[in-house]
Amino acid sequence: MTLEPDRATRAELTSFIVEYLADWHDRAATMPASGHDLTSEELEYLQGPPAETGRDLASILEDLDLAGKAGILHPSGGHMSYIPNAGLYTAAMAEFLAAGLNRYTGVASAAPGFTAIEHGVVDWMTSLFDLGPDASGLLLSGGSMANLTGVVTARTTRLGDDFSDGVIYVTPHTHHSVAKAARIAGFRNDQILPLAVDADLRMDPESLRARVVSDRGSGRRPFLVVASAGTTDTGTVDRLHAIAQVAEDEGLWLHVDGAYGAFYQLTERGRTVLAGLERANSIALDPHKGLSIPFGVGALVVRDEADLVDAHLGRGAYLRAEDHYQGVRDIASLGPELSRPFRGLAVWLPLQLHGVAPFRDALDLSLDLAEHAHGRLATIDGVDARWRPDLSIVAFMFDDDDKGKAALEAVNRDRAVHISPTVVGGRFVLRLAILNRRTTVEHVDHAIDVIEKTLIG
Ligand SMILES: Cc1ncc(COP(=O)(O)O)c(C=O)c1O
Repeated sequence: MTLEPDRATRAELTSFIVEYLADWHDRAATMPASGHDLTSEELEYLQGPPAETGRDLASILEDLDLAGKAGILHPSGGHMSYIPNAGLYTAAMAEFLAAGLNRYTGVASAAPGFTAIEHGVVDWMTSLFDLGPDASGLLLSGGSMANLTGVVTARTTRLGDDFSDGVIYVTPHTHHSVAKAARIAGFRNDQILPLAVDADLRMDPESLRARVVSDRGSGRRPFLVVASAGTTDTGTVDRLHAIAQVAEDEGLWLHVDGAYGAFYQLTERGRTVLAGLERANSIALDPHKGLSIPFGVGALVVRDEADLVDAHLGRGAYLRAEDHYQGVRDIASLGPELSRPFRGLAVWLPLQLHGVAPFRDALDLSLDLAEHAHGRLATIDGVDARWRPDLSIVAFMFDDDDKGKAALEAVNRDRAVHISPTVVGGRFVLRLAILNRRTTVEHVDHAIDVIEKTLIG
């Protein structure tokens, strides 16, 4: 096929793909949560190089069918492992539209209106946290990039060019992308200090304070504390007010990793749990988690745009001298990317089409389901449900780790639901991560019924 298909061919291709997606979305409600493994021959076939001449779309989509049958099926409501994301048809349409338009949003002058739309999406996010008049931010590819951009901004603002004595405070439950971000940003492992957590798995603000004082006493430069607004392990939210107080007293930058949990700010219960988030210097939050936007959209919001610009501004002779156009800031000045997709459309279009309320309702439902799950688990003999969920991840242990491992296998065996484990303090922990808006009380009860049966034997 030519690189310039005519209108009729374009329409044919589009309707083929729309039909394909229509079937996929029709099946979403009844889809199993995990698929069957591919053989090594199938994997080898899928990795094959392209031929010199093309082939028809039907046979290409057959290969896609084959490739897609393995792994975790994210659209399924039974998916409660890791951090779920059902995806959103309207956001997929927006991404098709954005790629089809293929306009450049790295610099504002290239597409001032589109850049303004994207800034508007980020402004809406900063307004959720009341970050003040200088707040800003940008959309990135996900939480890892948001954490990296936050760490680099903190480093530049607080340490300058020589940061070999800087210290970053985390906990053993901080997402691994933070330590990875710190290493990419040039820190050694011994500059990333995991602080012990309390019995509720939260960072202890007074241990933080004591550690900062002692590190400073030994000539190091404490500059960044990373708190969690919902850990991946157990969904735990750190004591944000108390940590913000230590950060303010000790002159630390407070970055909050809310990649999973920060969008609960849309809900009343979430706002209570997340109180203090508004005191952060920067927050990572993922539309591709909390808002069901298809994978590839994360966000970083900051209290002061000047900090982002200091850390990321880059100019070239081939660019306009100013990094803004008609008052619209170049997104490239705020983060690591220059050429970038019009990511904002994938968030803006669904928000315009559906309004904010359905997103809030979906998050509220996940909080209800988590409460329900925890209530049931707490009554089961042999289950240790000591951690009441802060948000929508329900983590629990067994009086014997081997029973937990057997329960995990039993729950995932029939593929109706899929859950994943973690380790807390050396103990095997199961978790129901409820964030997929298609997850129902039946999915949750099915998982708990199987756990109960495994324990009875
Ligand atoms: C709390 C937290 N932070 C960061 C990340 C990394 O986000 P991403 O996978 O979008 O890079 C995750 C991913 O699950 C997460 O749960």
